[in-house]
Amino acid sequence: NKPPVVTIDGPSGSGKGTIAKLLADRLGYALLDSGALYRLTALAALNAAVSLEDEARLAEIASNLDIRFAIAGGEVAAMLEGQDVSRDIRMERVSMAASKVAAVPAVREALLQRQRDFRAAPGLVADGRDMGTTVFPDAPVKIFLTASAEERARRRFDQLQGRGVSVSLRDLLEDIRARDDRDMNRAASPLAPAEDAVVLDSTNIDIDGVLQKVLELVQKRI
Ligand code: C5P
Repeated sequence: NKPPVVTIDGPSGSGKGTIAKLLADRLGYALLDSGALYRLTALAALNAAVSLEDEARLAEIASNLDIRFAIAGGEVAAMLEGQDVSRDIRMERVSMAASKVAAVPAVREALLQRQRDFRAAPGLVADGRDMGTTVFPDAPVKIFLTASAEERARRRFDQLQGRGVSVSLRDLLEDIRARDDRDMNRAASPLAPAEDAVVLDSTNIDIDGVLQKVLELVQKRI
């Protein structure tokens, strides 16, 4: 009898990261931000000047990643080789590299067990692209959270503006479309709802509304 998992998959900007965090807090569950593992792999590759075409080296990097997630001031900090790289892994250049690295089957294979190791009592909330399809196919609650590309670009734009970063909405929309395209059309674990996932569209619902719906499902199934 393994601890229960709630999987939350979906494209970037759908709000799944926020929902996953709130839900884990609410339920007292552990949290797996699987995207951070791909981002950390990408950052390590960029730091080591490894070509993103060199699949064997990328897989080696993914297997040997020295990473840790630490709680700092209520936030989860991502540590690579002892250094807090939480901000670095959110940079656009790393986002783009992460989606390339994530298309390499040997990298996904190298990260699979690491992700499964996050499963612990009393439960886990896992956020990503293939949590419900590949990593935790036996999860009792699977959510697939979407929103239109325009809405997701707008959210990202507001977020960056709030931080004083100047970007163009058009560039963000293009980036989002490029990443969606790569995530959905790759051969290895493409972004897609599991057959038994509940699909929620957050284009016109706010975070609280989505959280309520997810909590209802958890109450019914766990
Ligand atoms: O979710 P986040 O945007 O942080 O993920 C970064 C990248 O990692 C995504 O663009 C996606 O290509 C990849 N990813 C993945 N499978 C996951 C989580 C993320 O392929 N489970």
